[in-house]
Amino acid sequence: MKGCLMCHSDPDLAVKKGEGIISLFVDEISYRNSVHGEIECIACHIKADVKGFPHPEDLSPVNCGTCHKGTQKVYEESLHYRDDT
Ligand code: HEC
Ligand code: HEC
Ligand code: HEC
Repeated sequence: MKGCLMCHSDPDLAVKKGEGIISLFVDEISYRNSVHGEIECIACHIKADVKGFPHPEDLSPVNCGTCHKGTQKVYEESLHYRDDT
């Protein structure tokens, strides 16, 4: 986490995407207070787990299902689920 924040604690770290600018700033205190505050950044951003920085520019989308496998099943068994297919 510390390694990542070397760069991502900079409020000005941002990239241009199309017309807009996307901030890459990560606030450490908010992060620690979030539901995921205890887990390492690379647990989600798997491709950022490199021996030496910089990491690749394109870090593939995060897969919530690797840890929250049950979510889809819980939903399917809940009151809200309608099988319309
Ligand atoms: C040496 C500085 C540096 C360090 C250390 C660093 N990053 Fe980055 N990160 C960047 C820069 C610069 C970008 C923008 C890359 C680009 O798109 O040009 C970026 C982009 C990202 C993105 C967005 C990528 C995308 O696909 O749009 C994520 C997510 C990210 N970093 C996560 C991490 C994580 C997790 C770590 C720690 C394991 C980390 N970074 C460490 C500099 C750094
Ligand atoms: C629980 C999973 C999870 C953890 C842990 C996590 N991230 Fe992310 N992060 C995401 C998701 C989801 C996105 C949205 C973009 C995507 O899907 O790749 C994102 C986006 C980003 C971005 C791109 C800017 C943005 O706001 O879209 C950066 C930079 C980033 N994360 C850095 C970090 C750093 C640094 C840490 C550790 C302090 C971290 N992340 C921990 C899931 C996570
Ligand atoms: C590396 C494992 C990991 C990944 C990947 C991950 N999470 Fe989590 N998530 C956790 C842990 C650990 C907790 C804390 C569980 C607890 O307190 O019961 C948590 C808690 C949560 C919570 C709080 C509610 C609850 O069930 O306790 C939500 C909502 C959540 N995660 C959503 C997401 C989403 C959305 C993604 C994808 C962007 C994601 N998570 C990816 C590990 C992960």
